[in-house]
Amino acid sequence: MSVKTILLAEDDSAIRMVLNQVLTRAGYEVRPTGNLATMWNWVSRGEGDLLITDVNMPDGNAFEVMPKIKEMRPHLPIVVMSAQNTFMTAIRASEAGAYEYLPKPFDNDEVLAIVERALAEVKKPSKTQEHNNDDVENMPMVGRSAAMQEVYRTLARLMQTDLSVMVTGESGTGKELVAKALHDFGKRKNGPFVAMNMAAIPKDLIEAELFGYEKGAFTGAVNRFSGRFEQADGGTLFLDEIGDMPMEAQTRLLRVLQDGEFTMVGGRKLIKTDVRIVAATHRDLIQMISQGLFREDLYYRLNVVPLCLPPLRERIEDIADLVDHFLRLEQKDIKIKKKITSDAVDLLCLHDWPGNIRELENLVMRLVALHADEVISKEIVSYELSLSKKQEVVNFTSSVDLQAVLETYISKKILEQADGSSENSLYQIVIDKVEGPLIAMTLNECKGNQIKASAMLGLNRNTLRKKILHHNIEIKKQISTN
Ligand SMILES: Nc1ncnc2c1ncn2[C@@H]1O[C@H](COP(=O)(O)OP(=O)(O)OP(=O)(O)O)[C@@H](O)[C@H]1O
Ligand SMILES: [Mg+2]
Repeated sequence: MSVKTILLAEDDSAIRMVLNQVLTRAGYEVRPTGNLATMWNWVSRGEGDLLITDVNMPDGNAFEVMPKIKEMRPHLPIVVMSAQNTFMTAIRASEAGAYEYLPKPFDNDEVLAIVERALAEVKKPSKTQEHNNDDVENMPMVGRSAAMQEVYRTLARLMQTDLSVMVTGESGTGKELVAKALHDFGKRKNGPFVAMNMAAIPKDLIEAELFGYEKGAFTGAVNRFSGRFEQADGGTLFLDEIGDMPMEAQTRLLRVLQDGEFTMVGGRKLIKTDVRIVAATHRDLIQMISQGLFREDLYYRLNVVPLCLPPLRERIEDIADLVDHFLRLEQKDIKIKKKITSDAVDLLCLHDWPGNIRELENLVMRLVALHADEVISKEIVSYELSLSKKQEVVNFTSSVDLQAVLETYISKKILEQADGSSENSLYQIVIDKVEGPLIAMTLNECKGNQIKASAMLGLNRNTLRKKILHHNIEIKKQISTN
């Protein structure tokens, strides 16, 4: 095996000497220099397998040369060292494309481990270079749209940190995928990734599920149960649908995040916790705070870094890539693979995707499974889209969070009443809002036939008539032509 050469740019001669010694002893050839100009000379001549550089050098700042290096030698791993251990330095290093950032003082073994890892990883892409598609396939997040660039940039900055992240976005925009990527590519990747969905667990069990319980803590607690916090120790805890967390559990969670330790339900022993928290919600938490449904202090604890995922309709230029990606996933084990025509993709770009990427994924699944043709044409896509339009109407109450919409509306009305800007008839105002469209739409469905409509509504005919008058509903009688 050929000896690897490490370029070492460091102006502090003591550090340079120590690193030189450590790396040479480990079998590397080291080329030390105290200035950027010499280092740039080597790099531009194609020398070296890895570069270790300090940031502040007598003849300039390494961050200014790094873009040039990256452009010329994209596969040369760069390890950045700095005595300015601020978050900003880490961010700049990550933005400049550093493989790793090493705050000073550092441990010699750590440097060696990083160098070995970096060199081992460089070898991989050259093996699979001819399978460029595989790289894309293994990427967790597909899409190159402008709307996603900010998301990627934030993700890159977050990878080497433990900061709490709050992922927001409509349903199906990829919130869970982002949470997983933060874990898989971050420094906790070897630890566990534990997900918990607040909306999927009965409210009174959430605390026990999160923090665990001691044997005998409550009726039915026959054994000690370790909660998600304990299971996620050393890794990432993904708190999905955080807006659905009950108040008491919120209070307890806040305390854990502040103190870094917790007790189990029914327990007294303090347990230390080391977890990175990623939370997600499709709800408007600021609104929930104003309604008294979410703790403001917890919100600021969790929302250290907000990450907002764009809806698919704002990134339609990604649709072609996403379709390709899902087609490949769906047909992994199939020999003759179906292809989609470009005008079929154009048609997909015209759809507004209320269910976002999940809706697109499901559509591709149907296209592959239900149509025998080898080529997925515009006609097939048009047919499937018309089916999903019908589905949307049926799914209305589940895709639009009706309860959240109502809560928002009601809380606005309560505020109006409280400040006296509206008369006291809250009940009637809210009921009318629902009852009016309900009756009008049912009558419309029954073509103005009040007998049919009253049967459908389960209302007495006289009551229905009164309500029609109350809501001033105009009845358009449709005369049957047959
Ligand atoms: N950028 C992307 N590239 C490839 N697949 C994606 C991308 N974003 C999302 N997906 C896929 O779309 C589906 C929905 O994503 P995910 O479950 O992360 O959404 P979500 O925002 O958590 O939705 P919900 O609010 O309904 O829970 C998943 O199958 C996911 O793998
Ligand atoms: Mg989700």
